Amino acid sequence: MTQKSTESAKKRILSGIKPSGELNIGGYAGALRQFVEYQHEYESFFFVPDLHAITVAQDPAELHRRSREIAAYYVAAGIDPEKSVIFLQSQVPAHAELGWIMETQAYFGELSRMTQFKEKSDGKEGVSSALFTYPALMASDILLYQATHVPVGEDQTQHLELTRDLAQRFNNRFGRTFTVPEAVVQEIGCRLMGLDDPQKKMSKSNPNKGSYILMLDEPDVIRKKLSRAVTDSEGQVRYDWENKPAVSNLIEIYSVFGGQTTEEIERRFEGQGYGAFKKELAEVIVEKLAPIQRRFHEIVDSAELDEILNRGARRAAEEANLTLNAAKKAMGFVTFD
Ligand code: TRP
Repeated sequence: MTQKSTESAKKRILSGIKPSGELNIGGYAGALRQFVEYQHEYESFFFVPDLHAITVAQDPAELHRRSREIAAYYVAAGIDPEKSVIFLQSQVPAHAELGWIMETQAYFGELSRMTQFKEKSDGKEGVSSALFTYPALMASDILLYQATHVPVGEDQTQHLELTRDLAQRFNNRFGRTFTVPEAVVQEIGCRLMGLDDPQKKMSKSNPNKGSYILMLDEPDVIRKKLSRAVTDSEGQVRYDWENKPAVSNLIEIYSVFGGQTTEEIERRFEGQGYGAFKKELAEVIVEKLAPIQRRFHEIVDSAELDEILNRGARRAAEEANLTLNAAKKAMGFVTFD
């Protein structure tokens, strides 16, 4: 912490994947894969938002397993724990504490306008009050680390906008305390669509298991799911979202996992049918996932992961507590430092 001045000049990123379901390759394309890239360019904090997961009921054993799994995916996909800080949100108490403070800054009306809350609470009984205040906790996650950039999916941009408003509001009321973060705009291939319906995002909540590929799917399962993926009757591997959304989605998946551009893929499969394309696509995915799956299984229940998370929590807390103390002091709380 002695190099504070150089540190704060650096671009800093913070993001996390909620441990609320099994990860599919959409999560890899839209988040994980990009986290790995960002760590070269930014000082990086990647956390597991387990406190966010409990805004809806979670089975304790499931929460425990999923939380370790997300952390293991971070490492297995190539986030370097020597370079980036990897931690569990619940192990850094400052998140909950600043979360409470941010709730005092957020207006009821503002939170009522969050579309994710409306969607998730619509028609449900027993909606927790934490689901409503969720964005205040998310603001706390980001502001604690003075993050300059936050990569988020499309569904989170409204929450990020609110985070910016809360940071500005707090700074205006109490003096400059928080960095106002920017959303990181995602590149193509970040939003994979369902294999059964290119109009719907690839999602684990789809009851049709053939609509998504899980990070831990076995090679034969991947091959089978792809062989059944919807296409169209034209028979040409052409990237054209307007007229050929299903095939374009498959081309994007190929691009994410194989590294080629969409034009290169079109050229490669010119004159070939969908059968050959899907077969090769399956192999490209299988090949990319194999080392990630191997490392995942090696690490998920290991003492090595415990050690990474413990170290990460300590490093995160050091940083988070600096901001939390500054915020408390600015608000008038009695502090002793
Ligand atoms: N709300 C995010 C999601 O559902 C997860 C999240 C919580 C997050 N806190 C964050 C993402 C802070 C980025 C930054 O996907």
